[in-house]
Amino acid sequence: MVSKNMEELVSLCKRRGFIFQSNEIYGGLQGIYDYGPLGVELKNNLKLSWWKSMIYERDDVEGLDASILTGKQVLKHSGHEDTFSDPLVDCKSCNHRFRADHHNDNKCPQCGSIDLTDPRPFNLMFKTAVGPVDDGSNYAYLRPETAQQIFTNFKNILDSTNKVVPFGIAQIGKAFRNEVTPGKFIFRVREFEQMELEFFVEPGKDETWHDYWVAQRYDWWVHQGIDPSNLKKLNVENSDLSHYSKATVDLMYEFPHGLEELEGIANRTDFDLGSHTKNQSDFKISAEVMENKDSTTKLAVQNSESKDWFIPYVIEPSAGVDRGVLALLNEAYREEKLENDNTRIVLALKPHLSPVKAAIIPLKRNNEELVNKARNIKKDLQSLGLGRVILENSGNIGKGYRRHDEIGTPICITVDFETLEDETVTIRNRDTMQQKRVSIKELIAEYQKIFE
Ligand code: GAP
Repeated sequence: MVSKNMEELVSLCKRRGFIFQSNEIYGGLQGIYDYGPLGVELKNNLKLSWWKSMIYERDDVEGLDASILTGKQVLKHSGHEDTFSDPLVDCKSCNHRFRADHHNDNKCPQCGSIDLTDPRPFNLMFKTAVGPVDDGSNYAYLRPETAQQIFTNFKNILDSTNKVVPFGIAQIGKAFRNEVTPGKFIFRVREFEQMELEFFVEPGKDETWHDYWVAQRYDWWVHQGIDPSNLKKLNVENSDLSHYSKATVDLMYEFPHGLEELEGIANRTDFDLGSHTKNQSDFKISAEVMENKDSTTKLAVQNSESKDWFIPYVIEPSAGVDRGVLALLNEAYREEKLENDNTRIVLALKPHLSPVKAAIIPLKRNNEELVNKARNIKKDLQSLGLGRVILENSGNIGKGYRRHDEIGTPICITVDFETLEDETVTIRNRDTMQQKRVSIKELIAEYQKIFE
C-alpha cells in the first residue's frame, strides 16, 4: 500500500531524525529544511546511486562540482535574469500572495475573493552582495539550477578529458529559488538539490538521444524502488516549455498530494552553449539567442570529418534530490497489521538506499562480552564499505526491531549468550520478520547478499 498521507511521512521524518524544519527553534524558515542523521544517509545514498549510474557505469560522462555563487553575466546570457519568474498575484482583501498559474479560477485560494491585482512577474533568483562593498553593483546569484556552470565549464572539460560528442557532464548540488508559495513538505522548497546531466550531441541526433534519456531515467527511478504504476511520462505542452527548451518530457510521480514533477528531461538545443559563446554569428545557431559580447570563449566543437565547427545540442535529465527522497519515502512507507492486532510501520527501502544497512544488537545492554562481540561484527561489516552499520546497545530487542523497521534497516543481527558459546548470531529480516541462525563466519556473505 502506498501512503497517501503526507502527515504520516512528516511525522516519521521528524520522530526518527530524517528531516527537520530549518531554524525551528526560532519559529522556522519557510520552505527550507534540514536533513537529520538518517535523512543525510538516505539522501547521500540516493545521490551515490545516481552518480554511479551516470559516471562509474558509463564511459561517456564526466563529473563536476562547480560553484553555487554565479556571476550576473552567466545568468543574463542564460536568460534567467529576464525570464526566470513566476506570475505573482496579491489578494486585495486578505493580502494573500499566490502564483497565478497555480490557481486558474481568478479567486484567492485563501479567502475566495475575486478582488486581485494583475499578475506580475516575480524573479525567483536570490541575489547577494559579493565583496566588502555592498553598493548594489557587486552582486552574484545563488544558482537557480546547477546546469549553467556545466555550460560555462564546457571548454575546460573538453580540453582536459579528450571527450568527443556525444558525451555528458554530470553534477549534483544545491540550487535556490525564492518560490512564491513553497509547500508540500520538501516538494517545493527554496533551497534544494538537483542531480543534473547535460548530454551534448550532434544537432539532428538530439531527438533520438532525448528518447534514449527519457527511457533511461524512467528505468532508473523504477530501479530505486518506484512502482511503475506511480510514475508517468508527460510531454510538456509547448506553451509550458522553459525558455530554453524545444521539447521536455516530465517524469510525474504520484506524490501524497497528487501527480507532480519528479524529474524533467529537456531538449535544450544549442540555446545555452550558443548563449555563452563569443561571436555567435560565426555559427549557425537555431535558437533565438541574445548577442553575447561578454564571453571570451567559443563553446563549439569540430565535426571529425568535415572539420566544420558546430555548437552541440544538449539533452538534460534534471532530477530533484529532495523530491526523490519524498517519493522514495512515500513508496517505502507501510503500515502492517500484525497477528496480535498491533500495527508495525515499515520503511521498505531498497537496501542500497537504507540509511542504516544493519544493526547489531547485543541481547543485554552494557554486557561487556556481548558488546565486544557486537563491536567486532560491526567493524567487519562496516569495513565492507556498503554504508552505515550501527551497534545498537539498548538492550531491548523488541524496541530495536521496531525502530529499525521504521527507519528501513534491512537486517538486525542479535548477539546473545549462545553467540559466546558457538559463534552464531540471529539475523532478522525487515520485510519478512523471519529470523535465522547463522555462524559469524557466514555473516559477511549473508550481509552482501541483501545488496544483490
Ligand atoms: N536545469 C533544469 C531545471 O532546473 P526544473 O524543471 O526547473 O529544470 C528540475 O527543475 C528539477 O528540480 C525538478 O524536476 C524538481 O525535481 C527539482 N525542483 C525544481 N524546483 C524545485 C523546488 N522549488 N523544490 C524542490 N525541488 C525542485
